[in-house]
Amino acid sequence: MENLQELIESADTLQTLEVARIEIFGKKGILAAEFAKMKSVPNEEKKEFAKNLNIEKAKLTGLFDAKKSLLQEAALSESMKKDGVDVTLFNSYNESGALHPVNETMNKIIDYFVSMNFSIEEERLVEDDFHNFEALNLPKYHPARDMQDTFYMNDDYVLRTHTSPVQIRTMMNKKVKPPIRMISPGSVFRRDFDVTHTPMFHQVEGLVVDDEGKVSFAHLKFILEDFLHYMFGNEIEIRFRPSYFPFTEPSAEVDISCVFCEGKGCRICSHTGWLEVLGSGMVDPNVFKAVGYENVSGYAFGFGVERFAMLIHRIPDLRSLFEADLRLLEQFR
Ligand code: DAH
Repeated sequence: MENLQELIESADTLQTLEVARIEIFGKKGILAAEFAKMKSVPNEEKKEFAKNLNIEKAKLTGLFDAKKSLLQEAALSESMKKDGVDVTLFNSYNESGALHPVNETMNKIIDYFVSMNFSIEEERLVEDDFHNFEALNLPKYHPARDMQDTFYMNDDYVLRTHTSPVQIRTMMNKKVKPPIRMISPGSVFRRDFDVTHTPMFHQVEGLVVDDEGKVSFAHLKFILEDFLHYMFGNEIEIRFRPSYFPFTEPSAEVDISCVFCEGKGCRICSHTGWLEVLGSGMVDPNVFKAVGYENVSGYAFGFGVERFAMLIHRIPDLRSLFEADLRLLEQFR
């Protein structure tokens, strides 16, 4: 069998190796012929004969495999040398990407408020208790803190549960004086996970402050109605519903007529015909006190961007926005 080893070793191309393979391992090859000799071997020698032959076969197979990968590598580097890839060549299969629906919705929101002369403020994601709660009229042990189950870093720091602390940071910024017209887009964090909640999501906060008497609920109502019609179309109905937030007084939640059933009532709007989209109100005097403002009035609002994206694109499960599933994302190309 020496010469069989040589047959493999002397192959210098994949083609000659293939010829050797057929000659050695093929159905009518040398090994097959050797195995066929079993029939004429005396019974007591059969076991020994088969064992030796199998050892030989395994040796040859190992040799063959090693030789094959050697030759394949050589062939590959040869062909790379010969036909290099032209990376500048136009590729007609290039697929373009698209903005994620959350970014797309965020951009649309920002466009609206920038066109209305609002500035954009961005702030830190790890907030202290004072800015996230205390200054927003949410003292320690206030039951309303339960509305926002929180990731605490330690006793004093939290992953911000809303974008409202940016109101405080903006008003306390020495370089900023009323009139203020700002929005603050960004991520926020809560201990929630179900079809309409994820632990990280995005909000946009709005704040308008000017001399006392210059900013009223009528201004708030105008801007939010105009904004919601811009986002959801002029056909939708809008209603302001009295509500409670610690940092606004009076407070209102804003509903739009259900975009799924056009207000007739369906499972998604719990058969009310309305969907809640936004919190808002006139800035509570205690908030102005906390930041040292006097003789001003203002309004504020805040809402979740994922919820807007879901309603605009009729996405039934909010969590799917964070699954990076191309079947969803490709629809936005
Ligand atoms: N921060 C509130 C939340 O996360 C939303 C909100 C409600 C913001 C009313 C406001 C507001 O500025 O006036 O639920």
